Amino acid sequence: MPKLTIHVPATTANLGPGFDCLGLALDWWNTIAVEPARTFQVKLRGNSQGLPADESNMVVEHIRIFYNHIGARMPTLRVTMTNRIPIGKGFGSSAAALVGGLLAGNALAGTPLTAQEILEMANELEGHPDNVSAAIFGGFTISALDEGRVVCASVEPSEKWRAVVYIPDHALATKTARKILPAEISRRDAVFNIGRAALLAYAFTTQRAHFLNIGTQDRLHQPYRVPLVTGMTEMLDAAREAGANGAALSGAGPSLIAFATSETQAKKIRGAFTEAARKLKLKGETKILKLSARGAYVTQM
Ligand code: HSE
Repeated sequence: MPKLTIHVPATTANLGPGFDCLGLALDWWNTIAVEPARTFQVKLRGNSQGLPADESNMVVEHIRIFYNHIGARMPTLRVTMTNRIPIGKGFGSSAAALVGGLLAGNALAGTPLTAQEILEMANELEGHPDNVSAAIFGGFTISALDEGRVVCASVEPSEKWRAVVYIPDHALATKTARKILPAEISRRDAVFNIGRAALLAYAFTTQRAHFLNIGTQDRLHQPYRVPLVTGMTEMLDAAREAGANGAALSGAGPSLIAFATSETQAKKIRGAFTEAARKLKLKGETKILKLSARGAYVTQM
């Protein structure tokens, strides 16, 4: 059997108002190479501090889950992971590991499952479809659950748009960031979010960036997460003042994301993030990323 490499993109979820429903693939990739071997082996490269290099590794666990699902025996493998997506920072690192593991299993087994079936499995395992949809299908994804089934539409984003991200040096567990949210919200806040999520989908679909500013506003999760993310309000304001077309918490945080329609504008926003972080004495890094129309894919060697 040849060596297979699974490429999985980083994703940002929510994009402000689309809690658990909207996602976006970024041009920032983890790779997982799998090949049959005599003895089981896991090799970790890149940004993998703290990750286990054994059977308990999340990617390996999900290769096993895949094989159990199709009722077949998992082969003995050498798995080499190159991790670029930072862990616990709000760019779908767990979704990437989960999707990567399932897709590795699927590719090794000769693709018995469709991408939609992989999505159903991934959603069930992750608990919400936003990151996994974007990781699988790429682009800006809109996902809705219909009696447990995921209905997902993926929109190809503008090639010119950029995501400017601020990544704090500390992680935030999604579990913690979800626990803090109220179980119920008012009708007023629900209406606030429905209009904005719809405008945001329209902005991505028609590539009309001027709707991104209002389209990234949120009352469903971000206000409650402010206490968990030091400097969140000031940093998002700084990005907007520097001309960002919308700014939001990336997924459950703690990273922040702002949108630009050109590289020049993106550099200005990056400067504003860096300067605001310096003033607030925050430690972290900024990055300019392209958006990815492409979702996870497999190459063969
Ligand atoms: N929608 C999720 C949340 C994304 O905000 O909790 C993080 O996985």
